[in-house]
Formats: sequence, C-alpha cells, structure tokens
Amino acid sequence: MMLIVKDLVKKYKDFKALKGISYEVKEAEIFGILGPNGAGKSTMIKILTCFHKKTSGEVSINGIPIDRISSIKRLIGWVPQEETFYEKLTAIENLEYFSSLYNIPKKIFRERAESILKMLEIDHKKNSIAESLSGGMKRRLSIAIALIHNPKILYLDEPTAGVDPVSRRALWEGIRKIKQQGITILFCTHYMDEAELLCDRVAILRSGEIISIDAPSNFKKKYKSLENAFIELVKK
Ligand SMILES: Nc1ncnc2c1ncn2[C@@H]1O[C@H](COP(=O)(O)OP(=O)(O)O)[C@@H](O)[C@H]1O
Ligand SMILES: [Mg+2]
Repeated sequence: MMLIVKDLVKKYKDFKALKGISYEVKEAEIFGILGPNGAGKSTMIKILTCFHKKTSGEVSINGIPIDRISSIKRLIGWVPQEETFYEKLTAIENLEYFSSLYNIPKKIFRERAESILKMLEIDHKKNSIAESLSGGMKRRLSIAIALIHNPKILYLDEPTAGVDPVSRRALWEGIRKIKQQGITILFCTHYMDEAELLCDRVAILRSGEIISIDAPSNFKKKYKSLENAFIELVKK
C-alpha cells in the first residue's frame, strides 16, 4: 500500500477536526476526498504532508511512518489551495529554485523539468514571469513544482477551484498523465464531476468522519450519480 491511514485523530484544542479516520490507497491510484466546507479535508492533507502533527492514530507512506519527516518529504509532493511559486520569477526559474531545495543535480533537473513542463503542456510558457500566467497555467506551474523531486505520491487540495472550464479540462488531462507515470494521487474537491471523471475511489468526509468509500461507478449504481450519493450521505 502506498498510503495507510489508521484511526487518525486531529484535535485543535478541544475541537476534533478528524475523529478517527481510516483508509488505504494503492500505488498509482487516484483517491478523492469529497466533503463539504469544514469537513476536515485540508486538515487531513496537512497531516499527510507533515505540515500539522496528528493527535493520534497511524499514518504511513510507502511503509514509512509519517513522523520520519525527512524521509517522508522526499516521497510526497503537495499542491496547496494557494499557489506556491514566486510571482516575479519565470516558470523555469521557479522550478530551478525548488529543485535546488532538494539538491537535484543540474542535468537531472533539466531533463526532469522539460518532461514535466511538456506533460503539463506549459513548456511554451517556461520563460514567462509566473504572475503573468493565466489561472489555469498558474495551477499547472504549482503542480510542476510539486513534481520536481519525483515524489511517489502527490496531494492536490482543490486543484481546479476558481479555474475556468477549459483550463479545468487541461488540468484533468495533466492529472491523468501524472497517474500514468505511476504516481499515486490524493486530492480533495467539492466538484462531483471531476471526482467522477478522475478518481478510482472516493471517500466522503463529513464533520471529520469518513462516511463512505467506494468507486464512483458503485456510487452511481446505488444512487444514480455521485452527486446524489454525496447529498444523500452527507445529509444523513
Ligand atoms: N488551525 C486551526 N485551528 C483551529 N481550528 C481549525 C484549524 N484549521 C481548521 N480548523 C477547523 O477544523 C475544521 C476542518 O477544517 P478544514 O480541514 O479546513 O476543512 P475543509 O478543508 O474540509 O474545508 C473546521 O471546523 C475548521 O474551522
Ligand atoms: Mg480546505
């Protein structure tokens, strides 16, 4: 298993944002977390990226416990809800900077940057100043940065929030290609269409608890659509 989460609890003072959640994600799977605002999606991702400490429970990535932070950091890439790049640098300069944080040799960096920029179809923008890019291009640059150290698992927090319909499609295509490279992807969203299109399995999170995990096709069989499933399950 690429990711194992067992009885994960997160408290902020007296408030339990995660109430003991468990799931497992296989290598090269796309796993979606669906949940209304405040369900605990970002909290969960922040724990998986070592940004927040868990209160209790067990999390391991590729067999390595989450508290071995320096080993874990090499395995994970994270695209938060906010953009991660330096606005005044070009796309390629941003990649070069983040690559230097991982001590990636220049030659490997150049090859890798080229293939990631091609895969995400932003290679023609590599010399553009980041702030001049369109919304969708900015998102793709943040994803490119998260991939530059060749992680085994990629976390995306609402990757298409605020992105226009055409750019969303380009992002979905990019996410599919990342999976084809064998990279495991976990992402949060509240868009049913993208969860249905992209995810191998989806977990529905409500008030810090997972209330259901299944393939989108199975949710569709039972509830007609993933959206219906979500509405039915969340209101219970
Ligand atoms: N740093 C924090 N301190 C206290 N409460 C927090 C903190 N971060 C999130 N919360 C609370 O935890 C709950 C889950 O938040 P969050 O993980 O951001 O949800 P989501 O990403 O699903 O919208 C919310 O009720 C939120 O107010
Ligand atoms: Mg959030």
